Amino acid sequence: MRIPQTSTDAAMLLTLLFPLLSAADGGFDCGRLVKDKVSFDFKELSGARSVMISDSSKSASYLNTTYTVDICRPLKRVDDVPAEKQCPHGTRVCAIERDIKKDGSSDTIVDAYPIAGQLIENGGKNMDAKWERLKASKSHSDEGKEGLRMEMNGGFRKDADGKKRKQKSIIEFVCDEDKTGLENLWDPEDKYDDDDESWKRGEDEGQKEDANKNYDPAASSLKFVSYKEDATDSDLDVLRLEWLTKHACEKEKEKEDAAKANRWGFFTWFILIAFMSTATYLIFGSWLNYNRYGARGWDLLPHGDAIRDVPYLLKDWMRRVVSSVQGGGSRGGYAAV
Ligand SMILES: *[C@@H]1O[C@H](CO)[C@@H](O)[C@H](O)[C@H]1NC(C)=O
Repeated sequence: MRIPQTSTDAAMLLTLLFPLLSAADGGFDCGRLVKDKVSFDFKELSGARSVMISDSSKSASYLNTTYTVDICRPLKRVDDVPAEKQCPHGTRVCAIERDIKKDGSSDTIVDAYPIAGQLIENGGKNMDAKWERLKASKSHSDEGKEGLRMEMNGGFRKDADGKKRKQKSIIEFVCDEDKTGLENLWDPEDKYDDDDESWKRGEDEGQKEDANKNYDPAASSLKFVSYKEDATDSDLDVLRLEWLTKHACEKEKEKEDAAKANRWGFFTWFILIAFMSTATYLIFGSWLNYNRYGARGWDLLPHGDAIRDVPYLLKDWMRRVVSSVQGGGSRGGYAAV
């Protein structure tokens, strides 16, 4: 669900009142990932972003795997590529494996599978995105880290026997003040229909290719960590990526925003509860008065007399205030006759 910045407070109220609303589609707003009242905004990282790893252990060819992530929305497929050579609709994290002959004689896609996403063939509801703040993590290995760890599920891959293996991705967004997160990314051969990116690609195709020639995984902001079978579930493979970016830093302003949102949330609840209690009291009291004493009109209300007197009390009080002000003025200005 995409929420405009200006209505953050309204959105906050909505999410308070209807916690299920924002999670109803299983998706999330990449511009406002909130954990422990700290908000992360990854909108700047949106688009198809890739990391490539190469296995050169075979003598005649490389096995290059490109992992592409769009943290903000599903990757868009292109029409002129066969279905088995790209990831299905709804994929957020896609893996494409190619076999490239070292002598350059051929370059074939040997496998393409979704690691995570809301995939139609899986019912479309099992991405089950979760995120965890690294600062709040109890794990030893997270000590001193700042950022967000995000888990996305829903992918599958057919093994050699045609059996489906579950896939999931764990991306660690780690705070690095000096990086936007878009430095030295791999420009995949597999094009995604990306509205934001297409004009940039078209503009300087040659330069991009050069960039890939000098691709240095160690210098890239998006890093491959591992892809292997889960330690506890032998039907599951886990892809781990690390993304160095300043957007994973917990900035002062964001903390303030979060605190403000929290205060606003408290007041909303306070007023809501006060209003509800008053209403309940009045309704229940009226009902009691009606049933017990057959009361009608003003008598229905609990403390009906007191409430009825309020306007008179107010008027009286106003009169006193006014007269004391006038009296105070006249005392200084005019002498008594
Ligand atoms: C595959 O990986 C090798 C080794 O890193 C690299 O030189 C080559 O450019 C890559 N090719 C493609 C198409 O990914």
